[in-house]
Amino acid sequence: MKLLGLSFSPRKGANTELLMEKAFAGARLLGAETELYRIAEKKITPCDGCGACMGTGECPIQDDMQELCEKMLNADGIIFGTPVYFYNITAQGKAAIDRSIMINRPDRNLTNKVGGLVVVGGSLGLIDAVKDLYFYMVIRQMLPANFVAAYASRAGDIEMLPKCMAAAEDLGKQMVKISEKRFTYPPEFQANHIGYGTHTR
Ligand SMILES: Cc1cc2nc3c(=O)[nH]c(=O)nc-3n(C[C@H](O)[C@H](O)[C@H](O)COP(=O)(O)O)c2cc1C
Repeated sequence: MKLLGLSFSPRKGANTELLMEKAFAGARLLGAETELYRIAEKKITPCDGCGACMGTGECPIQDDMQELCEKMLNADGIIFGTPVYFYNITAQGKAAIDRSIMINRPDRNLTNKVGGLVVVGGSLGLIDAVKDLYFYMVIRQMLPANFVAAYASRAGDIEMLPKCMAAAEDLGKQMVKISEKRFTYPPEFQANHIGYGTHTR
């Protein structure tokens, strides 16, 4: 299994990434290949809403988002890791999530990839980040695995929470095991582009 970790933290090697590395360690024990992708080190411009990708699948903004989309499409599972900034995910992460609208294509989507979450905050707002990232997984028809939500503030504080570190290791293992089950959405229910949910006008 290829497991991609998308770090939305601008702090390299801090709490979010320590937990993600622990999840990777768990996944590697079960044979996974892992790769950490640090969005804050990349050039990912926010979406300008031009809509060009709706027709062509190509985004006119040429930056590192094209590379990131290929990595997401090539992975069997994706761990999203974010610190909580003002009660939700970081701006760096949101830019990547929005730009991923360019893979709203029948042949380029995240259907059946396993999704896991790591969220770290110092006080409040963890669950808002958790539910928004799960909603992203749902509309992408991913297969949601567990989440780890941890309280830590200063870089490295997370290492004082061994239960969180152990939960992250378990998350990595769980993602490999879910991937090995080869669950798939029934083809007739696979969104042709993206599942925006059912709504009426
Ligand atoms: C701009 C900013 C906003 C923050 N907002 C929140 C918040 O709303 N809720 C919270 O629990 N922690 C908040 N924090 C604290 C971080 O989530 C916390 O320090 C976390 O450990 C950072 O993760 P990292 O170590 O992976 O960078 C904020 C930190 C910054 C820099």
